[in-house]
Amino acid sequence: MKKTVLIKTTVFCLLSVFFTHSSIWATDLCQSVGNFKSVKTIGDGKSYELRAENAIVEITPYTPGMINIHFSKDTIRDRFSYAVVGKPLNEVNFNLKEEKDRLVFTSDSLKLIVRKNPLRFSFFTLNDVLINGDDEGFGTSWIGDQVSTYKKMLPGERFLGLGEKTGNLDRRGNGYENWNTDAFGYGTGTDPIYASIPFYIGVHDQISYGIFFDNSYKSHFNFGASQDRFSSFTAESGEMNYYFIYHSSIAKIIEDYTYLTGRIQMPALWSVGYQQCRYSYYPQEEVVSIAQTFRDKKIPCDVIYLDIHYMDQYKLFTWNPVHFTQPQKMLADLKKLNFHTTIIVDPGIKIEKGYAAYEDGLKNDIFVKYPDGTNYSGQVWPGWCNFADLTSEKGRRWWGNQFKGYIGDGIDGFWNDMNEIATWGQKLPQLMNFDYDGHPSTTMRARNVYGMQMARATYEGAKNLMGGRRPFVLTRAGFAGMQRYTAIWTGDNSSYDDHMLLGVRLVNSLGLSGVANAGYDIGGFMGNSSPQLFARWMSVAAFTPFMRGHSMINSRSCEPWAYGEEVEEISRNYIQLRYKLMPYLYSSFYESAQTGMPVARSLAINYTFDGNIYNGDYQNEFLCGHGILVCPTSTTRDLAKFYLPEGNWYDIYNDKAYSGKQELILSNPVNRLNVFTKGSSIITMQSPVQNAAEKPFDTLYVHVYNGTEKNSFVYYEDDGNTLLTKAVDFTDEQFHLTLSGKRLSSQKPKENQTVSSLLSNSSSTE
Ligand code: NOJ
Repeated sequence: MKKTVLIKTTVFCLLSVFFTHSSIWATDLCQSVGNFKSVKTIGDGKSYELRAENAIVEITPYTPGMINIHFSKDTIRDRFSYAVVGKPLNEVNFNLKEEKDRLVFTSDSLKLIVRKNPLRFSFFTLNDVLINGDDEGFGTSWIGDQVSTYKKMLPGERFLGLGEKTGNLDRRGNGYENWNTDAFGYGTGTDPIYASIPFYIGVHDQISYGIFFDNSYKSHFNFGASQDRFSSFTAESGEMNYYFIYHSSIAKIIEDYTYLTGRIQMPALWSVGYQQCRYSYYPQEEVVSIAQTFRDKKIPCDVIYLDIHYMDQYKLFTWNPVHFTQPQKMLADLKKLNFHTTIIVDPGIKIEKGYAAYEDGLKNDIFVKYPDGTNYSGQVWPGWCNFADLTSEKGRRWWGNQFKGYIGDGIDGFWNDMNEIATWGQKLPQLMNFDYDGHPSTTMRARNVYGMQMARATYEGAKNLMGGRRPFVLTRAGFAGMQRYTAIWTGDNSSYDDHMLLGVRLVNSLGLSGVANAGYDIGGFMGNSSPQLFARWMSVAAFTPFMRGHSMINSRSCEPWAYGEEVEEISRNYIQLRYKLMPYLYSSFYESAQTGMPVARSLAINYTFDGNIYNGDYQNEFLCGHGILVCPTSTTRDLAKFYLPEGNWYDIYNDKAYSGKQELILSNPVNRLNVFTKGSSIITMQSPVQNAAEKPFDTLYVHVYNGTEKNSFVYYEDDGNTLLTKAVDFTDEQFHLTLSGKRLSSQKPKENQTVSSLLSNSSSTE
């Protein structure tokens, strides 16, 4: 290992001679940071400020494994972030040793070596193994306002995550853009789509790291598209502000990333149940009749949705006077059936004299403006609309308060749609002015965060109005950190096999990127599913964090009974299985809320260095929670290929044992999704129920699968509805199960124990 470092140092010396001269190239077309000038400590003495010829850089350790690098051309102007909520930890050690040609910063987990001439940043393990380093020629540089960082791409390096991005699990060879877009009818390779999360994970040589680029302008990521030299991230404007995260496992990288950008709130238990949607159910009798049909057919369900037709001419915060004449009665009837109701809300407020929300918005001056002070108007469902500036505290408060009526009527779910912002024409003018919470900005900076701020305004408003109950918020658009307020669905997908599998990857990628609560429209929003596809989609979705059937107006309906008796039976079976697994799923959500670990786990989290999991045939497989391996495959083949990673596995339906690290070919019947449980997993189940309000029998079933690993599982239960007041709310119903050999022990967690510390006692396959 020492040898490698020595060779590297020689290369650096040679290159530094070359680049000292060549940094002159920079001044013309591309401005590079230039050579080092000085370094000093700032703040509490743990952060450093570096000055170079053309840049100033702040270096701040956040955790032992996470360091913030923030460049500016002159002074750092921009510290405001919608994404970041975590603060630098006090107890981080971070020391600088200055040498002739370089600065060596050391934390308890990694080394950052900054070469002086020209300034280049490279991260190493404490044993001097390269984790990730600047491209020696380019580093960080500007083209006009556009700022980029170029990282040397290593042989075999893979790139994962980046949130809601189409394409393969391993993103190498591709480039992506972050620009929230109403991607109606998107294909399996369309980019960008609705949400932007500028966070990715790099993997090579038994090493993994994460980079979060905190910049909400349009950004571009290149993982070797049209070149094989570098991975890079670029923003059209703003500052180069990134967080570098290094840990021994992807789980720990996600834990640090979600320490930084926040974690999900514990969802209402009912929102973990099956949810039924349609564009649109109306009139009100039809809504109740759909709910009643679920009960009659004994298909478990907790939520029914009202799409845009519930409103009066699509005007927000109203009820349609023809089709919803007695909304309170309808909601009360639904409540009697133990159904919760979620309504759609779009950001556009119809411009119409006398319309209360519009008049009130005008009076309170909350609409987004052009630079000349006039309100921006764009066309969407209701016709010409103004849009509340939800990047302002005042706008968010106004928006949140508008839900008073609906909440009073009995609504407790809020579906935030069209918040990219989508308008007819899809060309939101760039020059609109947003408050950006006291940092006035144009559309260029605000567009990517608008959807997240709409979800936030909805969440905060509903939370305040719901008397301590948990609201359910769903969004289409979002940005890094959205998980603090909302779940997300993957927008207007299409009814074909590859799109179903894409949806699985989108959800897994969102999970790798901090968003643990995500799902897709079962059956596909656009087009008509085949019965086989619909059945398969239902079965896969039963293991997905957010489970909702939805389809477009004038397309085939998507209730579980819409595809004939066989599909109805398959749907019932899988939805029922989900409800039996509720104690396991809810505990998995609890783990997400405490550590950021997603519910739907790409195999890259636990089997990072097993090349097979990136194979096109296997890349859609995921773990639901810690122990259930789901193998989604298309419906077009009689036989399907799977890959069982390391460990031992059991067929979930008949306990047939399989050893891991093998490819399998099994039959692929429509009524049987291939699902396996992992040896040593601990899976908690309950008796069947029809909805989350129905009490299961008193017995909690704990399934323990024979295996060789030590495993740990935190069982979590609460009333499923009351807002939690602190990060770790240990309740009487909670316990920690440890499996060691054949011995399963149960303890109550202690007051000061975190879920992360409890689970890290286990030796999973990482
Ligand atoms: C677009 C959304 O993506 C879709 O789910 C919804 O049904 C329609 N808008 C109508 O509101």
